[in-house]
Amino acid sequence: MKRIALLGATGSIGRQAIEIVESHPGLELVATASGSQPIDGLAPLTQVGGDLTELLERAQPDVVLNAVVGFAGLPATLWALDHGVTLALANKESLVAAGELALRARERGGGLLLPVDSEHSAAFQCLESRSTDQVDSLVLTGSGGPFRGRTRDDLEVVTPEEALAHPTWRMGPKITVDSATLANKGLELIEAHFLFGLEYQRIEVVLQPTSIVHALVRFRDGASLAHLGYPDMRVPISFALTYPERAATPVTGLDFTQGLVLEFRPPDLETFPLLTLARRAGERGGTYPCAFNAANEVAVAAFLAGRLPFLGIAATVEETLAEVDGAPARDLADLIQADEEARSLAQRGLPVA
Ligand SMILES: NC(=O)c1ccc[n+]([C@@H]2O[C@H](COP(=O)([O-])OP(=O)(O)OC[C@H]3O[C@@H](n4cnc5c(N)ncnc54)[C@H](OP(=O)(O)O)[C@@H]3O)[C@@H](O)[C@H]2O)c1
Repeated sequence: MKRIALLGATGSIGRQAIEIVESHPGLELVATASGSQPIDGLAPLTQVGGDLTELLERAQPDVVLNAVVGFAGLPATLWALDHGVTLALANKESLVAAGELALRARERGGGLLLPVDSEHSAAFQCLESRSTDQVDSLVLTGSGGPFRGRTRDDLEVVTPEEALAHPTWRMGPKITVDSATLANKGLELIEAHFLFGLEYQRIEVVLQPTSIVHALVRFRDGASLAHLGYPDMRVPISFALTYPERAATPVTGLDFTQGLVLEFRPPDLETFPLLTLARRAGERGGTYPCAFNAANEVAVAAFLAGRLPFLGIAATVEETLAEVDGAPARDLADLIQADEEARSLAQRGLPVA
């Protein structure tokens, strides 16, 4: 029996994870947490808000599924890695903000870090623990979000409702807006760099509008391996929770009877500048990725609250990154300081409410 602590139990990933746990006799929820919504009765131990590491100390789980949204998930990520407890990671923001620290914690703890993000789960499976010198490049795929094909002029006037209407995935509001701006691919680029130890120039981003191909790995022998399936997060969640078993899920396999066309095209980096801003922040390293994430979180919240136009999200992140010093990220205190500094710079640039 695997004892699971589920953080972010009330969210999109959290609810799908509960479905997977309930359908698998080898999985048991021992602890659940949310930010503010009540979660009584889901598990023997529950916590709403507060320090999630206290819950993890009490629960001593075998697996932590971190499905909290945003920087708030960082202490739990570091706790699991430091304690050698398997970490099933949906909370990409923690790895983006604290990649180097997280890798050091994983080395100390010696546990498994299993990605839940669908692209990274796919890449993990294509890579099969091969050394990076066999890899030419990793290709992260994205649908392009609801605004694929739009011009900057079109984007001047788009509303939160339009941004939240994702064409292929049903997800929480923050990641849905990140998908519309391509910040999500930017976060995933940095996440992949830390997860797989690949330099940024060996990570490509390609649009695949129907979200059937979740990632590809190009190997040095000229072969490319891809991971395909309908867009359904229950697959990577189940993969991480039951690893290395690959348990059955209720998700149906691909149907070719009606034909299946796969189209790939490059992202429009000029209309959607957050992908390039993320790449630059990742390449600069230190606390730049943390600042990118913090400014993006502030800007997305402001956009969803109707305080910032859609194009203001990228502008806020760009202005914030131009002002921070990107000092080295030596410990959690450095990151908390960098996160706070970037948040206050980003807030300062917002239109007055
Ligand atoms: N949804 C997807 O398909 C998908 C795919 C790939 C990766 N991800 C990643 O998975 C993470 C979760 O995404 P989501 O779409 O599931 O988000 P979501 O639906 O907004 O859910 C977020 C969850 O985090 C909880 N939370 C927020 N702040 C918290 C805090 N300070 N302490 C404890 N819990 C807190 C929320 O609790 P309350 O309900 O109480 O606020 C909720 O349970 C994100 O990092 C996202 O990028 C999601």
